Amino acid sequence: MWTIDTDITRAETPPGSAYSDAVAHAHFVREVMPTTWQPVPGAHLPEISGGQRPTRVAGVPLVLTREGDTTRALSNVCTHRGAILVDSPCVGRSIRCPYHGRTFRLDGRFRRMPHFEGAKDFPRPQDSLAAVPLEHLGPLTFASIRPAASFAELTAPARRLWPWAEASFTRDPDGDVTWTCSASWAQYVENYLEGLHIPFVHPGLHAALEPGAYETTQHPGCVVQLGEARTDELAFSLPASHPHHGRRIAAIYLWFFPTTMVNLYPWGISLNQVVPTGPTSCSIRYETWVCAPELRGRGAGAGLDKVEEEDQAVIDRVARGIGSPLYTRGRYSPSHEQGVHHFHRMWSASLAKPEDWPMGLGRAD
Ligand code: FES
Ligand SMILES: [Fe+2]
Repeated sequence: MWTIDTDITRAETPPGSAYSDAVAHAHFVREVMPTTWQPVPGAHLPEISGGQRPTRVAGVPLVLTREGDTTRALSNVCTHRGAILVDSPCVGRSIRCPYHGRTFRLDGRFRRMPHFEGAKDFPRPQDSLAAVPLEHLGPLTFASIRPAASFAELTAPARRLWPWAEASFTRDPDGDVTWTCSASWAQYVENYLEGLHIPFVHPGLHAALEPGAYETTQHPGCVVQLGEARTDELAFSLPASHPHHGRRIAAIYLWFFPTTMVNLYPWGISLNQVVPTGPTSCSIRYETWVCAPELRGRGAGAGLDKVEEEDQAVIDRVARGIGSPLYTRGRYSPSHEQGVHHFHRMWSASLAKPEDWPMGLGRAD
């Protein structure tokens, strides 16, 4: 099993074989992903009371239900013999299993089951649908199957740096795009976590950011990258209470272990969620939330499709190279790859000691 030295000045990156290890990947998907917080697709949130919409979180089938203003995330698997309950968005006062007619309330409680007269000790608590927690960061909704870390702790740095005192967001349905990628999910993430490649790969973005003012900080389960605007480029108007009030921040890039990226720009939020689909394949789900439409197309948050294409090209380049028997392990830039190092430490620890994950993992020590 590979490990990552805590000292970035000595540390080596993961071996090339880590990116195609099928056993480690299966463990990651089955044991680690369900303990993480994952964004719920905005399009899957029911908009009216009685609404029921199927979704998946970390691969686990869930149904989102709404009762009045309360939205819940319930197991979408019938507690009788395991049938999927809701296949497509619908509205109703209860959830009814199409297989043998068991019904549940919108809060998941067992309601009725035909032909179960005489069954002893029935219904038991586990005959109701399990509910999983939902949390919010700005307009985004997150869920976790069995959270290993509190959402409040995970998102504390994001809340501290949240650039809007008040803003109302609208989801842009045109921003709901999914891209499939022939690379490991980890290759997508590590490219996201460093700005070292910006001058080489993203000439347009480079022109919007102040050279030498890119900043990366590490937190439990989270990395924050700040880009500062060049003099004539667009920056946030940060509220007086903000820790960086007075600085010309162009973009705040938030990453949450392992697969969630929330990008904050003066015009709004762009979400990238990586969904691992195999040891050497993944898909990326994008979502766009706008609070200042008049600012779209300006500054570091402009031309995101172009930046994404440029990233995809280099990720593909790595995916084609990393399996070479002549590649061993790399080293880190101590000044520019702290985020990647932090991620690799968490990734390695999650595979080696899952029972310890993630509380305490990757804390700056
Ligand atoms: S599987 Fe749902 S009622 Fe039988
Ligand atoms: Fe990039």
